[in-house]
Amino acid sequence: MRILVTEPLEKTGMEILQRNAQVDVVINPSSEELQGLIGSYDALVVRSRTQVNRALIEHAENIKVVGRAGTGVDNIDVDAATERGIIVVNAPSGNSNAVAEETIAMILIQARRLYQAIATTKAGKWEKSSLQGFEVKGKMLGLIGLGRVGSLVASKAKGLEMRVIAFDPYTSPERAASSGIELLGFNEVLAQADFITVHTPLTAETKGLINLNALRRMKPSAFIINCARGGIINESDLKIALSTNVIAGAALDVFEVEPVRDTELVALPNLLPTPHLGASTIEAQESVSLDVAQAVIDALEGRMPSSPVNLPYLPPNEAAFLAPYIDLAERLGSFFIQWRGEMGSRIELTYDGELSTRDVRGLTSAFLAGLLGAVSDAPINRVNATMYARQRGLIVSEVKAGNSKLHHTMITAHFPDCGAANISGTIIQGEPHLVILDSYRLDTVLQGSMLVDLHHDRPGFVGAIGQLLGQANVNISFAQLGRFSQGGQSIMILGLDDELNHTLLEDVRQLPGMERARMVKLPALNESLAYNWDEE
Ligand code: NAD
Ligand code: MLT
Repeated sequence: MRILVTEPLEKTGMEILQRNAQVDVVINPSSEELQGLIGSYDALVVRSRTQVNRALIEHAENIKVVGRAGTGVDNIDVDAATERGIIVVNAPSGNSNAVAEETIAMILIQARRLYQAIATTKAGKWEKSSLQGFEVKGKMLGLIGLGRVGSLVASKAKGLEMRVIAFDPYTSPERAASSGIELLGFNEVLAQADFITVHTPLTAETKGLINLNALRRMKPSAFIINCARGGIINESDLKIALSTNVIAGAALDVFEVEPVRDTELVALPNLLPTPHLGASTIEAQESVSLDVAQAVIDALEGRMPSSPVNLPYLPPNEAAFLAPYIDLAERLGSFFIQWRGEMGSRIELTYDGELSTRDVRGLTSAFLAGLLGAVSDAPINRVNATMYARQRGLIVSEVKAGNSKLHHTMITAHFPDCGAANISGTIIQGEPHLVILDSYRLDTVLQGSMLVDLHHDRPGFVGAIGQLLGQANVNISFAQLGRFSQGGQSIMILGLDDELNHTLLEDVRQLPGMERARMVKLPALNESLAYNWDEE
């Protein structure tokens, strides 16, 4: 495995990468240089400077994972990566405390006018009487965004005896209340706060969220701080607000364009600018390098990374429980399509028993990866399968049911456009088992080469097929039969040590009473279908 690192990464993370792969470090290559290099690597690790755009991704023929040592993935075209089945991982929590501490520092610097105090004292002045500040104790802090950083800022501000309110339409009032924070509307937070601190991601919805209208809702004595992402505060509007005393001041660690080019903005006396330093602490850089390196190696080795950007996130204990079911789901999808050769346009996935209480999105994408991967020459895997299914117009629904009568925990796929087509599987003693196929009850371990047929139940049929395969020196490792009634239609699965060639398969199809026969091939049990890396 080869990993390319294009920006400085702390030693802790580098060591993890080097223990597991061949690592090359090329710091800040030009985009042409990077496009020339990328084709021979399996993973790319970047910070915020390397632009992982669509053009680069088109050259990244072997890349399976892009790791971002930090939180924001604004420099990565996640959609383009997803289309190519490339997992994007980041290190979202390792630097949260550093950013929260920087935010608190900015609150205190502004309250006590330390920025001006330091500058004037260094300039030989003694501004003791003109630089009176105020205490933050008892003042109102208004958070815009109550995620990882926002919550840490809140708890530190409470340590300073500030009162805290927040606007975050995507978090629950209960969660906020449990930390003693009142959730209010956007305008209410703006109007009540002495300090507004911004902690949302930059999205279509948050771009320009703080514009002149919003700034005018703030108290004229209030300050605003953005250590999140440039662009959430409209910089032209902020310049107007600061230069006309609509608000008292602002502190920005992040800018619409970085390095910041707007010299007028930076020069404003009531603006405190810093060069995107939020995560620049020894501890944060060690922590994100460790997190991203582990996530990259996990993804490369087919394990669920702890911080996937374009795969559903599962906490570690959840991931451990679901791992065998994810493998089962992918094998079921692959088995079904190889057996039926059709899927229609609707798929209903039912998750029974314990699975009905879990986050099953990873199972659905694994099922779709198995199903679509077998019939497409595109590199379909668990990362992009849901997107491909959507593009193909497949309507996929998930049903969470209680306990099934047959097995305590079961995954079932129904294909309403394909008659009675269905497939169910479960895990028995740690192994993926097929337990229902097109309504026939079976019990087959989902691995290896299998001849699957539908035939008319009659004496001697199994012997005839055994004889045909025996003459061709093909060994049968197991046989499974299912039927509804004697003399009716019957399904048979034969485990084979070798695959059938086309002529032999045609001979099998010509046996009297045979309705349909197909080969199904699945990886051995110790080989994962995971991400289909080998097929790309
Ligand atoms: P997070 O995902 O944990 O939290 C973001 C919160 O914003 C979530 O609770 C979400 O519900 C909320 N949110 C989303 N849209 C919103 C909207 N329209 N209005 C109000 N709330 C909304 O993210 P985080 O780890 O706390 O990071 C917060 C920000 O800090 C991000 O922009 C991140 O990129 C940035 N960051 C900056 C630095 C730095 O060096 N300055 C370092 C790390 C993170
Ligand atoms: C992040 O997104 O983690 C921060 O902005 C810090 C960085 O740029 O790495």
